[in-house]
Amino acid sequence: MQLVRTITELQALLADARKAQQAIGLVPTMGALHKGHASLISRSIADNALTVVSIFVNPTQFNDARDLATYPRDLDADCRLIASLGGRVAVFAPAVEEIYPEPDTRTFSYPPTDCVMEGARRPGHFNGVCQVVSRLFSIVSPTRAYFGEKDFQQIAVIRAMMADQGFTFELVPCPIVREASGLALSSRNALLSEAERAVAVHISRVLGESVARQATSSVEEVSAWVVETLNAIEGLEVEYYAIVDGKTLRALTAWGESDDPVGCITVYCGHRPVRLIDNVHYTPCR
Ligand code: PAF
Repeated sequence: MQLVRTITELQALLADARKAQQAIGLVPTMGALHKGHASLISRSIADNALTVVSIFVNPTQFNDARDLATYPRDLDADCRLIASLGGRVAVFAPAVEEIYPEPDTRTFSYPPTDCVMEGARRPGHFNGVCQVVSRLFSIVSPTRAYFGEKDFQQIAVIRAMMADQGFTFELVPCPIVREASGLALSSRNALLSEAERAVAVHISRVLGESVARQATSSVEEVSAWVVETLNAIEGLEVEYYAIVDGKTLRALTAWGESDDPVGCITVYCGHRPVRLIDNVHYTPCR
């Protein structure tokens, strides 16, 4: 594993791999790595001769200064985890000025994908994601890029950005990694107390149970049941639950409207509170 801080250093490494016509995998992250990231990195190591893991807490995608300030950061621990995975890996951990020598004024707009759910609640968030991800794509020019399905909407927005900006390499979506309790792994879980963690496990439990209700209940009924059940648990407050088509992210009114109905949720958990997201796939009914 090699740690590089600048685009020049990184591109020297990439030039060698390109000369040897080797495949390059990119795993964009904001650090605070956990087993979910490790699964993306391991997948990239298996698929490519060289893997670039970027670690960059991107300021342009935070619409809340406190959230940016408290975002967990531990580069040493991140490097230890990456080294333990073996493989040929370059860790790219640039300073903000390296990625944004000047303010990025580009705007990206892909309605309805970037306007619903997270897009409606976090103005500018996906614009910031597209700014940094398109920048990383241009710097690394990978053979494949890896993203976790926990951020289901983010993948749909990045796919739209890739089509718009002419990035033709492969985006590899990777399944959510969960604790034994069912809680989806997230860097934000580090902000939960033990008691809050015990409460947070109900999110995946209730989503899982809602799938069994699909056969006998409408989209609206299942949606209302998820919200009411979670809001009845002390320490949880649902921000939104939307059952959407997995490709277009358009809200469904009937199960038959989609080949891939997906329920996407954001819940506030605990004292701080910590904002947690998760999703579940329902059975296609057409
Ligand atoms: O999912 C994340 O961690 C971030 O949104 C990403 C894709 C690394 C861009 O900063």
